[in-house]
Amino acid sequence: MKIEFQNTPLRELKSPVVAVYGFEGSAARSGTAEHLPAETRGLLEELQTSGELTGKAYECTLVHRPPGLAASKLLVVGAGKKEKFNCAQLRRLSGAAVRHVRARGLHEMSWLFPGTEVLPGDVQSVVEGAILADYDADTYRTERNGERRIDRFGVAAPDAQVGEPARAALERGRIIAEAQNFTRALVNEPSNTMTPSVLAQRAQEMAARYGLECQVFGPDIIRDLKMGAFWAVAQGSDEPAQLIVVRYAHRDAPDSPVIGLVGKGITFDTGGISIKPAADMHEMKTDMAGGATMLGVMQAIAQLKPRVRVLAVVPATENMPSGKAYKPGDVITSMSGKTIEILNTDAEGRLVLGDAITYAKQLGCTALIDAATLTGAVTIALGNITTGVFGWNQEWVNRVLASAAAAGEKMWQLPIDDEYRELYKSAIADIANTGGRHGGAITAAMFVGEFAGDTPWVHLDIAGTRWSNEEKPYRAKGPTGHGVPTLVHLLTNLPQ
Ligand code: BES
Ligand code: MN
Ligand code: ZN
Repeated sequence: MKIEFQNTPLRELKSPVVAVYGFEGSAARSGTAEHLPAETRGLLEELQTSGELTGKAYECTLVHRPPGLAASKLLVVGAGKKEKFNCAQLRRLSGAAVRHVRARGLHEMSWLFPGTEVLPGDVQSVVEGAILADYDADTYRTERNGERRIDRFGVAAPDAQVGEPARAALERGRIIAEAQNFTRALVNEPSNTMTPSVLAQRAQEMAARYGLECQVFGPDIIRDLKMGAFWAVAQGSDEPAQLIVVRYAHRDAPDSPVIGLVGKGITFDTGGISIKPAADMHEMKTDMAGGATMLGVMQAIAQLKPRVRVLAVVPATENMPSGKAYKPGDVITSMSGKTIEILNTDAEGRLVLGDAITYAKQLGCTALIDAATLTGAVTIALGNITTGVFGWNQEWVNRVLASAAAAGEKMWQLPIDDEYRELYKSAIADIANTGGRHGGAITAAMFVGEFAGDTPWVHLDIAGTRWSNEEKPYRAKGPTGHGVPTLVHLLTNLPQ
């Protein structure tokens, strides 16, 4: 999608579609619709009076040959309640517009920014929404809906001088949304095309393209590093495990902090010997979403170039049952030296994350964030709308929450507390790999946190938010890329 500013006077703009929005109850004379020429608004008033134009969220009204405009069509998008309007809503509105226009076989449109001032934040939201909406998950359909694409998206600012901040915002929006779509594409791949080796290869290609350093270690090195927990999970699979490390460092970045991004990279989670039920098991192709999130974040910051050091670590493997698979009751020794009693081989995420966190600390990370499709329990608590956030260091947690709010992603802190430690005690080893059903998201998070130790750490449980089975007006169903905008915001807004 080519995105560019347009400064032609609105009445003369010959775009196939110009899109505006208006709020519920006054769609013809609020939002950006308010700034249309009088004769155009006159027609919208008629539509509003007749009840066709309500302004309800995502309602799309396409007006052909709109009076007062040179554009072939005018699209009025309902913006919903004015009190609820924010950057996330604006993103969804441009998304809804893109999907509505695409579905009608059109490939070009403009989004109107009226007035003499173009707010950079608005530009970023609109651009993000447009690119995210142009993604479809139908990669392997012979006749792809994705062929219906918007090729040109105009940011029409007829009455403003577009300055550097707005241009930078357009670029930032493009970079973040493309990174998010990269994450979505990785998550969407089935496990037969997205093996640990393929994930590593994709990471290498991305790194080469954007000038990042990338190292991939195979089974021999994983064993040599004594990653006993990662290894235990990997040993049941015929696909070789891969440890992916991607590095970013700004030339002028201070030596510290070094931010470690650790992402769960289970390319398929059968549950292992504690095998999962058949229903919905196919969804476990997405169990590398945490890893994909971190790779997306790296792709974005490689282009946005914040003055910071960042290191992504993605332990990638399948979790399979086989004659070589680890078994319930096994005791393993993690890279940290902590011994772990396996009570359930389906609690594999915390095992690979524990060793990856130990490794990230060994590489010099001074603050950690992990993202993982870790527990079904978090989806019971928060559904697929909100990511669960955990951490002992409240300052670091607050930073992540503040970035989520700024980036328009829903995240919510859940508690961790020493009292829960009782739940994953083991009689034979230092700790057990499950703490039972009750408080499952909490004990899983705390298990991972055991390996972070005193290093500031935040855990994002994205088991619910990684995927949406619901098609939205502004988003295809499938992988969401949730988490990428928040982490990119965090890394580009660290105190200097
Ligand atoms: N990958 C799953 C968690 C998951 C569930 C992700 C649903 C996305 C959607 C994880 O490895 C897992 O199996 N967790 C178990 C832990 C239990 C055995 C303690 C779970 O949540 O049931
Ligand atoms: Mn599992
Ligand atoms: Zn899993």
